[in-house]
Amino acid sequence: MPIIHHHIAELRAALKPYRSQQRIALVPTMGNLHDGHLELVKLARQYADIVIVSIFVNPTQFGIGEDFDSYPRTLDDDVAKLATVNADYVFAPSVDEMYPVLPLPTSVHAGAITTQLCGQSRPSHFDGVGIVVSKLFNIVQPDVAIFGQKDYQQLAIIKQLVRDLSYPIDIIAAPIVRATDGLALSSRNQYLSDGERQAAPILHQELQYLAQQLIDSKNVEQDLETLIANSSKRITAVGFKIDYLEVKTAQLESIINNKAEKSQAQELIIVVAAWLGRARLLDNQLVTVY
Ligand code: PAF
Repeated sequence: MPIIHHHIAELRAALKPYRSQQRIALVPTMGNLHDGHLELVKLARQYADIVIVSIFVNPTQFGIGEDFDSYPRTLDDDVAKLATVNADYVFAPSVDEMYPVLPLPTSVHAGAITTQLCGQSRPSHFDGVGIVVSKLFNIVQPDVAIFGQKDYQQLAIIKQLVRDLSYPIDIIAAPIVRATDGLALSSRNQYLSDGERQAAPILHQELQYLAQQLIDSKNVEQDLETLIANSSKRITAVGFKIDYLEVKTAQLESIINNKAEKSQAQELIIVVAAWLGRARLLDNQLVTVY
């Protein structure tokens, strides 16, 4: 069983003896763990001797009216699952432990990258992620940290944070884990009714279809608007309400502003966020076009 710590000082004391000789990995989570999280832990083990999983439903990344209060908190189940993948430590702090005062006067704002995509409908979300991830990095001081590629924008922001704030931490991106029908695993999938759950895999299917159409297109920039409009129609036809469906460069820049690179292969990312009932689902698909 992993050892659980609820206090920063205790965790720091527990980790101190390892620091000089062993590599430490951090897997930050908000708990309610599913197989996707367990894959992050398995990946962490490949890069480190000691694996710490943080479980903290971070209030500062939820906006007003979002699901902070109802977000499932399942610590005992989570710890049992983490035992099956040999996590060494669980760090499960209280809100008071992480935030001595709220709102915290200090902020971590990653700039323009945070205001697009999810940042459009969740304006303060990535500031909350920035502050909590910075705190976790300072508390755990890991050598390596693992983040899921499903939250592509979050991953890009964290890579930027590590670069800009000189954290000596390797960020490892873990591939999206999917159900057999293609739906990306997410704690929020449990908000779906049976009917919604059946409809949900269309999101992944449509991203794959759109990726193929981008590959087949003779002029991506010219075809983009129509291809996205057609995909959007098919996604909304099964009941989704689309927050965004966009195609960007892999660095999350606009492809229209990147004409100079268009003569070579270009790695693009198709990113989507869409509501199905109570669940806001995210997915993405990398695609290389020539
Ligand atoms: O991806 C998540 O679960 C959260 O945003 C994270 C990185 C644990 C920060 O609270």
